[in-house]
Amino acid sequence: MLTEEQYEQYKAVKRDPKMAEVFFAEPVLAEREAAPEADPQGLGDILSPILGGLGGGLVNGILAPFSGVLQNLNVPTPQPTGLKLIPGNAAANQFKYPGPTDVRGLCPTLNTLANHGFISRTGITTFAEASNACQIAYGFGYDLCTVLSALGVIAGGDLVSGKYSIGGADSRVPNTLGPSLGLDKHGTFEIDNSITRQDTFFGNQADFKLSRWNRLVDIASKYGGFFGEQTFIEEKGITYDESLATNPTFFAGAKWFVVAHAERAFVYRALPNGTFPDKADFQNIAPFFLNETFPPQWFRRASAYSVPNLVTDIAALYAGSPRPLGANEGLNNFVPLGQDITAMTPAQLGCFILQNIFDTIPGQVQPGLLANLGVYKAFATGAILPFFGSFNCPLDSYVVPSPSAGSSSAGSSGNSGPIIINGVYQ
Ligand code: HEM
Repeated sequence: MLTEEQYEQYKAVKRDPKMAEVFFAEPVLAEREAAPEADPQGLGDILSPILGGLGGGLVNGILAPFSGVLQNLNVPTPQPTGLKLIPGNAAANQFKYPGPTDVRGLCPTLNTLANHGFISRTGITTFAEASNACQIAYGFGYDLCTVLSALGVIAGGDLVSGKYSIGGADSRVPNTLGPSLGLDKHGTFEIDNSITRQDTFFGNQADFKLSRWNRLVDIASKYGGFFGEQTFIEEKGITYDESLATNPTFFAGAKWFVVAHAERAFVYRALPNGTFPDKADFQNIAPFFLNETFPPQWFRRASAYSVPNLVTDIAALYAGSPRPLGANEGLNNFVPLGQDITAMTPAQLGCFILQNIFDTIPGQVQPGLLANLGVYKAFATGAILPFFGSFNCPLDSYVVPSPSAGSSSAGSSGNSGPIIINGVYQ
């Protein structure tokens, strides 16, 4: 726990990073003189007291190592950016079908990374590996890839080792702080209203559904065959309305808002050929969904796509077909959340997203929720919060378990060596 003084210092450093030096540099330098080998850079110690106690935080734009129970957690590193042929010619990155014990799950692009060895072909990845691969293969920014991968390990993995399954629960992922249920687990990162996956209420929420894809293709045909913002504005509205009318447990809370909009923006921001970034056409988008591979002669983005870029895209996509946040408590009984997203400024929206990222934390750790909440808080504070610095969010009300915290139901997952060929699991 931070003392009141530390918290005040933390807020001061948030307002003006130079204050870190004033508060912390002198004592730390003195300490380093006494024990120089303890921290060769001296910077991790400057930040750790204000970042939830276990380290992390950005030092010269790079995540500092964690300490204590998280000391073995490898952190992602910034990767070179710019146009690049992906997967390229390296033997290690050529497509291979997953083997019988390899897991695949609900994120087509993580499945693609695994099929090409950018992350472990087993489908058991880590915080650092998936963030680095996301930058290398898709050209997303260090900030966004690290936030996504941090959410991955929080939602379904083991914080101590940083491991998580990109599919369902898996014995290769330790359960050090609580059950590691995999990304497929519904409710933390996995949401209703996915693009090509059905709502959990109707069955397996991890497998690709050809019918949903075909509907998307039909909608795209009205917009010149492009899977761009206009296509997703229409598709998102239709998908929401369908769930509202047919799914008695449809849940469109804050997490839904963030994930449902982000994953759609990802399609037209990450998957077009980097040489023609505005052409999110069938040729470039379909291979990721139908065969979980890169299109031929495919280049990643020329410039990094960052957290602020995503927030802007989420706002635009939402505004195109706004729908109320809330939940069905049975059919024809929608209970609105009363949260008006349209009234938010971009900065407020960034903070709203951050707040909800923190809200997912306790959802994973049942039954060790109370015992380990501090570790999750320290991880999110050290690995996610720093990337939202530009939004200047107030922190006082964050890191409180949500009403839905602690669910340990795994949900279903189609992960026992599935092979998808032209959109059909073999
Ligand atoms: C470490 C990084 C990542 C993690 C942990 C992750 C996790 C997830 C999860 C949990 C979902 C399911 C959401 C839902 O229920 O609808 C998902 C879906 C999706 N993700 Fe990722 N993701 C990552 C990176 C990326 C990247 C880099 C892209 C784009 C290149 C991407 C594109 C998508 C898309 C398009 C979907 C929607 C799939 C569909 O419903 O058809 N993801 N991801």
